[in-house]
Amino acid sequence: MHNIDTDLEHKARTESMRSALMPTYTDYGVIIERASGCYLYDDTGRKYLDFLSGVSVVSLGHANEAVNQAVTEQMRSFGHLSNFFINPTTSALASEICSRVARDRSGKVFFSNSGAEANETAIKLARRYGDGKRYKIVTCFNSFHGRTMGALAATGQPTKQRPFQPLPPGFVYVDFGDISSMETALSDPQVVAVMIEIVQGEGGVVDAPQLYFQSLERLCKAKDILLIVDEVQTGMGRTGALFAFSHFGLDPDIVTLSKALGNGFPIGATWAKAEVANHFIPGDHGSTFGGSPTSAAAALAVFAEIDRLDLLSQVREISSYLREKLVGIEIVSKVSGMGLLLGMHLKQPVAKALVAKALEGGLVLNALSDRIIRVAPPLVISKQEVDEACDVITKVSQGL
Ligand SMILES: Cc1ncc(COP(=O)(O)O)c(C=O)c1O
Repeated sequence: MHNIDTDLEHKARTESMRSALMPTYTDYGVIIERASGCYLYDDTGRKYLDFLSGVSVVSLGHANEAVNQAVTEQMRSFGHLSNFFINPTTSALASEICSRVARDRSGKVFFSNSGAEANETAIKLARRYGDGKRYKIVTCFNSFHGRTMGALAATGQPTKQRPFQPLPPGFVYVDFGDISSMETALSDPQVVAVMIEIVQGEGGVVDAPQLYFQSLERLCKAKDILLIVDEVQTGMGRTGALFAFSHFGLDPDIVTLSKALGNGFPIGATWAKAEVANHFIPGDHGSTFGGSPTSAAAALAVFAEIDRLDLLSQVREISSYLREKLVGIEIVSKVSGMGLLLGMHLKQPVAKALVAKALEGGLVLNALSDRIIRVAPPLVISKQEVDEACDVITKVSQGL
């Protein structure tokens, strides 16, 4: 039962809270006051099970104690330094990332503040590597690499690009998973890099066919074309491996990270093999907040927690459990994706209605299209919480 006066008051409060914000987001109309673990709590005291994780960010859950402690301790020493100084926390994180990404623990890292910036860095580095002779970057239709102008140019979605033309030139798009069109694109001598997601996240949780990535890597290596893997969404354990490229035994030249790297603290990282990274020279690139010791402290705590909790095995186990439960729901036709980045495909085009009803039922999901819902809970989700979410989905989908 809703009280009409209270509903109206709440609507007015929501409107007023939106009023000074640019209208770039379609929000759910819910005001969150507190979050803890896998749950959000709104201003009316309602509780929501978060199966979106702040869009694949809070993998360790909200208000994680280890991250909070690491950040607080760092803030007590110093929260920010210019990049004219070296500091132990940021250096430790750079070494940590190198030791996790590369088989031989080598490479170099540039820090920024978001996924788009991590990809912008990769684009600039690839152009430096091309040395003025090669500059084109091949990306996939339906990909998502960010909203800044370079990252948007890399994002193969004409509807997102159209209002902001002209975008930086030099991007070529091919169908994801189609190795022959990739081969044709790579025959252009001006191509210097391929930028790709292992699972297309925003594009609908799309998987590539078997052996696609291995063939792509062979094509790149044969022509000295850089393989840039965008792990902004798939990285940090989301797919059941620390980085999704390792499911396919790949050896990328550049890897971009963000989202779950800081469990909510803004941070982006671009790792590259040393021979690629060394093409940057002082003054080529920079970011005032990039490499913030505070965000670095958060990210170091995230790596430590992933190990301490043996989170990768947990993700693999809970993923099988969740997948099995989702495919058993009447309205679901199939489940795509890996680990805890899953796409729930519906038999009818009712994704938006289902997401709205699930929210009313206390579950946060995200519709990527009329028929696809993204399911991306925190990696620390329990079986009971999976049961709770699937019960809500089953219940609300019956009325659609
Ligand atoms: C694969 C991928 N790359 C890049 C981005 C952009 O990240 P950000 O929103 O932090 O700029 C996203 C965001 O969803 C993403 O999923």
